[in-house]
Amino acid sequence: MAELLFDGDLSLLRDLTIAVIGYGNQGSVQAKILRENGLNVIVGNVRDEYWGKAESDGFKVYEIREAVRRADAALLLVPDEVAPEVYYSEIDEELRRKSFFILDFASGYNIAYGLIKPAPSADVVMVAPRMFAWGILERHRLGLGYPVLLGVAQNASGRAWDYALALAKGIGAIGLPGGAALKSSFEEEAFLDLLSEHTYIPLLIASIMAYFEVATKIYGASPEAAILELYASGELAEQARAMAEEGLIEQLKHHSRTSQYGQLTRIRRYYDVIREIVESEADEIWSGEFAREFAEEKYSGMILMNRLKEIFGSSDLVKVERKLLKAIKEGKLD
Ligand code: NAI
Repeated sequence: MAELLFDGDLSLLRDLTIAVIGYGNQGSVQAKILRENGLNVIVGNVRDEYWGKAESDGFKVYEIREAVRRADAALLLVPDEVAPEVYYSEIDEELRRKSFFILDFASGYNIAYGLIKPAPSADVVMVAPRMFAWGILERHRLGLGYPVLLGVAQNASGRAWDYALALAKGIGAIGLPGGAALKSSFEEEAFLDLLSEHTYIPLLIASIMAYFEVATKIYGASPEAAILELYASGELAEQARAMAEEGLIEQLKHHSRTSQYGQLTRIRRYYDVIREIVESEADEIWSGEFAREFAEEKYSGMILMNRLKEIFGSSDLVKVERKLLKAIKEGKLD
């Protein structure tokens, strides 16, 4: 079994200044929890609306380069696709002047694919939450931790794993019920993250779209009823929660026998086809083909992604969904 760790030593971070670079989803949440844990946190940001948000939350905010200059550790919490540019324009030079620094990432992508090659004097660690930022905050309010994957790409101080664990504790992931840190690597995190983004999530969404099309266009089902059945009732979310808490197959006990029989026999029916898809997607990720594809897309100004958002976002399903969700929220039909 992979190594699971449940606590870290916060005292390792007590005398350090920690710069949270980026005050978005993860940055705002991690900065607040670190501060709540008594650590010395500053924020580094570009002069956009997030700068003001960090200031109004009571943080000292600096230009990114200045924040790194003042800090002993930095959490690089800007979107993955802009992180290399931010690192090379604002951070690298400062890091090369320091004999000790901890550079922390919340995802493995840029290090795994060699898009950022940090100064060798720095400890380079990863504390990657397996949770949306709002989920972290919600659990934190309830006194609960959450799972993270840890990685070390450079261990200049010889204590990088200890720092990663301390940061995991600092951001409220471990040292609390429900929290766990799994020893992993930047490469494994990037691979697993991309593989779920390329397989079961799009497969689920594609199944939902195909179901909607067939049920409403061929069999004349009501579009609203189909959308409620598919996901708008929240049952799907409940099922996912039951999987997390009780187990993938164990949760089936909450379903009728008709449903259990149907699900189990169809899992068997589809398994081989899906496995082939997963293998081919894994191959694209592992070989670096996807990273190259995405680099080209970024270079082109995300033309394909924006076009697909437009196409899918204006589908019949989305049009009905918008009206339905609004009507349910407001308790009336327009
Ligand atoms: P975000 O999209 O919320 O980041 C916004 C922040 O990035 C703002 O402070 C903004 O000023 C800054 N920013 C945006 N473009 C910039 C640019 N060109 N130059 C300088 N700063 C720029 O990012 P998010 O979602 O918090 O992701 C941060 C990291 O956390 C990523 O590595 C992501 O993979 C990881 N992560 C995110 C999760 C989430 O809940 N969204 C979950 C787990 C990991």
